[in-house]
Amino acid sequence: MAKKSDLDNSYTDGVLNTNVPGNSSLQDIIDQRYSRRNLLRGGFSATALAVFGGLPLAACGGDGNDAPSVSAGASATTSAGRSVSLAGTATDGASVSSVTWTQTSGPSVTLFNANTNTASFMAPSVSSSTPLGFRFTATDADGKTSSADTTVTVQPSSLGFTAVPKNQNDIVTVPDGYTVTVLYRLGDPIAAATSAYANNGTDTNFASRAGDHHDGMAFFGLGASGAARDDAANARGLLVMNHENISQRYLHPNGPTAGTRPEAEALKEVEAHGVSVIEVTRGASAWGYVQASTLNRRITPLTAMTFRGPVAGSALLRTAYSTNGTQGRGTINNCAAGASGWGTYLTCEENWAGYFRRSATDNAARAAKEVTALNRYGVAQGASGNFGWATVTPASASNTTYARWNASATGADATADFRNEPNQFGWVVEIDPYDPTSTPRKRTALGRMGHENAKLSLLKPGVKFAVYMGDDNRNDYFYKFVSNTVWSAADATAADRLAVGDKYLDAGVLYVAKFDANGAGQWLPLVFGQGPLTAANTTYPFADQADVLVNARLAADAVGATKMDRPEWVAVNPVNGEVYLTLTNTNASSRPITATDAANPRFYNDPKGAAAAAQTGNPNGHIIRLRETGDTSEATTFTWDIYAFGAGADLDAANINISGLDASNDFSSPDGLYFSRSTNPAGMVNPLMWLQTDDGAYTDVTNCMMLAAMPGTVGDGGTKTITNTSGATTATQTTRVGKAPGTSLRRFLVGPKECEITGIDSTPDGCTLFVNIQHPGEEVGSGFPNTFSSNWPASQTSATAVARPRSATIVITKNDGGVVGL
Ligand code: FEO
Ligand code: CA
Ligand code: CA
Ligand code: CA
Repeated sequence: MAKKSDLDNSYTDGVLNTNVPGNSSLQDIIDQRYSRRNLLRGGFSATALAVFGGLPLAACGGDGNDAPSVSAGASATTSAGRSVSLAGTATDGASVSSVTWTQTSGPSVTLFNANTNTASFMAPSVSSSTPLGFRFTATDADGKTSSADTTVTVQPSSLGFTAVPKNQNDIVTVPDGYTVTVLYRLGDPIAAATSAYANNGTDTNFASRAGDHHDGMAFFGLGASGAARDDAANARGLLVMNHENISQRYLHPNGPTAGTRPEAEALKEVEAHGVSVIEVTRGASAWGYVQASTLNRRITPLTAMTFRGPVAGSALLRTAYSTNGTQGRGTINNCAAGASGWGTYLTCEENWAGYFRRSATDNAARAAKEVTALNRYGVAQGASGNFGWATVTPASASNTTYARWNASATGADATADFRNEPNQFGWVVEIDPYDPTSTPRKRTALGRMGHENAKLSLLKPGVKFAVYMGDDNRNDYFYKFVSNTVWSAADATAADRLAVGDKYLDAGVLYVAKFDANGAGQWLPLVFGQGPLTAANTTYPFADQADVLVNARLAADAVGATKMDRPEWVAVNPVNGEVYLTLTNTNASSRPITATDAANPRFYNDPKGAAAAAQTGNPNGHIIRLRETGDTSEATTFTWDIYAFGAGADLDAANINISGLDASNDFSSPDGLYFSRSTNPAGMVNPLMWLQTDDGAYTDVTNCMMLAAMPGTVGDGGTKTITNTSGATTATQTTRVGKAPGTSLRRFLVGPKECEITGIDSTPDGCTLFVNIQHPGEEVGSGFPNTFSSNWPASQTSATAVARPRSATIVITKNDGGVVGL
């Protein structure tokens, strides 16, 4: 409650002082229009100001008598990250010449509009209920002042929205109180001279347009003026994102030419892959990207790259393009991503293997270990290669940018063909977004795989940090790279950012995870010469550390890592450092009921659709998490449990819907995973974790979605034994299950038709969330090219729109300006 002011002789308990003669009518109006509680609620300020501003005031010149009558409004309670309005009122027999709000107690906050009746502030992060005191002071024309106080009690953060119901609508749905705008769509021009996107298949020059299939993403701040890096910027920055793949048919008027591909079609498709760097700014009403910014950049499969780390210069990287194995050409199938702690972007190459052609007789031209490696990475003999790019006969005979997708051994040695081109992909690539002329660096020390994202551990001075990475393939592994160099905080702001990457990412130890049945686990080092990683290995004789890193999957097989149900994104809790990993799903043929283990424990059927088509294995996926021993990224052991199991709410609660999901939070196929930044209340105390789905198993009920969670900690549940079922066969499996999430896990967003939700970052203040919507309408539909299976994003604002769907970045803001999700 507000208390008696000690500044003057007026008094308020949060209600206007009705002892002032002549003010009863004013009090009546206020009482009719507003409850005291409403006056303090976020978002109410504009209305309150408008009404009070319209009330008649006495003439100027002073009444020579009364001090103003003031109210600071009733005390109120809120929680961290929410926008709070302070609504003061001041009346006087003469006129009120000025008002001011000041803070009198509690954690310091920034007051906006402090010299108006209605100030506002962001409730700060607190770990327990914390009162903040505020004083409203008014001065009249005679210089007399009065003050009143009020108290806002801030509770620790909590989820602050109502769950969005599952749906199959062709729009992005967010909770009440939030707004979605579309920011950056496939084909949008990012150079001054590039034309607007016609979106009918005729557009060209994707090297100066947004690519397709927006995926992993990060926001890098820019100062309000100039183009300098500013890590605290909330209104201007560089949005950097991956373009993982293409929806090929929409890129051409009537779909692609079959058979031998025309160069012009293939060039479009190549350039629609890669990475975008675009400048974005927050305008008066919405965010937009800056088409003519000189910082805009497209990185494509044609962009020059440099190899760094132990594999640079290895014979395994030699091609006709890079005869010494140090140079690379571009990046492809960039799935998820990461941000380093020094202002660079880490883009990760995932399903690169599918782009390569190999002749039906190529094995005969290869050494046995080469065949083993190609098979393990999915570049099979006889593969035709996605999109048939190797079939192009380019206008220029010296142009090998299409021939390189043919990985067959055709020349005298590896420098005469592109047999080693598959070894040029599967890496984490570091990009300096602030320097459009910089050459990206492929960081080979982090290993070659089907990289999902690359997530750094918490950075602690004097400690070697880790980079956590999933290899998204059925029965593949969870890795971490530990730098050889301890972190120095000064490097966070060093001017030569890629040199910082050289310092930390070019030398270290790559480990792979082994999950033990008892809830413990080990990080197994992949170091040449140790254990089975020698030339004596009969499955695959390793030649050196470069060979171990190029063939990290074979190395992980050899040391006995735990085969996982498709590792996708990793996220790190910014408060306690716990590491979360999505395991999106697997099927019965890859991981039968006989191959469950404690970390991949379920086998069941989730029948789909009216026909109840069988989906067996682990079609809904789960999220595992671990805590490093001693809470250090240098640890070689950990403890683990399973945070949540995906499942429809209707599935068997004992053995399938083990996490007790209900209509507010049931999901399938977790993929994107991200903790809110530690620079705002959503990333402090009880950090908010965002979970995105890339699902095909539950899409008979709902489109893909994004959920928000406030997870507990490793070990907050217990041991559970479940019964798996495959037809008439049953088997038990014991696992470690976290505490059921309950209402701390809640659906925040549902996407448009046939999309995947992937890629997420926020501004440092947490008030703007950027999210990517990938491949809406990917099934195209039988009406192509006249109608489409989704019309998003045109459908977001027009229910009757007919337009080719486009992957796009959306912006989500809370209407009252608060932190998204809280
Ligand atoms: Fe590109 Fe594993 O998702
Ligand atoms: Ca007066
Ligand atoms: Ca993914
Ligand atoms: Ca996926």
